[in-house]
Amino acid sequence: MPKKLVIANWKMNGSHDLAMRLTRASGDALARAAARAGTNETAPDVVLCPPFPYLFSVAGILGAGVQLGAQDVAVLDPHAKGAQTGDVAPAMLAEIGCTYVIVGHSERRLRYGESNAVIQQKAAGVLAAGMTPIICVGESAGDRQTGRAFDVVRDQILHSVPPGGTSHNIVLAYEPVWAIGAGVPATDADIIAMHEFMCRTVQESLAPVAGLRMVYGGSVKATNAASLLALPHVDGVLVGGASLKVDEFGAIVAVAH
Ligand code: PGA
Repeated sequence: MPKKLVIANWKMNGSHDLAMRLTRASGDALARAAARAGTNETAPDVVLCPPFPYLFSVAGILGAGVQLGAQDVAVLDPHAKGAQTGDVAPAMLAEIGCTYVIVGHSERRLRYGESNAVIQQKAAGVLAAGMTPIICVGESAGDRQTGRAFDVVRDQILHSVPPGGTSHNIVLAYEPVWAIGAGVPATDADIIAMHEFMCRTVQESLAPVAGLRMVYGGSVKATNAASLLALPHVDGVLVGGASLKVDEFGAIVAVAH
């Protein structure tokens, strides 16, 4: 059985209030716990995605089976030769030890208006730097209510995955927007139907699919991770809120063994 993939997305939260605050010290503690949990042969592939300022610190803590990812990356526009204040290039992330980069998270699609075209460029930059893009897709509550969930996800896949991208290692993360931070994940039936649809879409429209893995994200917790990971075509999970608690994330990694 191929190893499951467990991705931790240590997100800043809107108010950055004290209770939820991720600091360098708490990030390092989470990384040490993940490194301990990920050392044996049956351990899943664990990817820790801290905010940019903590990447370097976490990079020094990783153990076997635990890899480093970033939550975003700059678009490298070959036609715009100017400097890009505030941006972080794919090569910079690769240099400090990142092997994965999340692109197109719904929070970036919505808050910053990132289009499929931008996400596709970001994913291409990640691949060109030798890393694996974690490309997020997922419909809004409105899309689902109006019966457009499958069309939206198909459109996102076709236009966010770089041409030829699936012949490399890529991760597609299905994260229905309405399930993120909601406390309750999508139903098993919804996840099975969408992951099957995503598989078909990729095979029919984007072949070859050598290194593709598909993960589910949205309110994954210690209490539901085992059943989510057992669903067909679910190669792993992308964990937000629950990845910020040492014990809870440890329990998720444990059930992914
Ligand atoms: P959540 O977030 O696990 O807190 O729902 C998932 C994500 O946004 O990646």
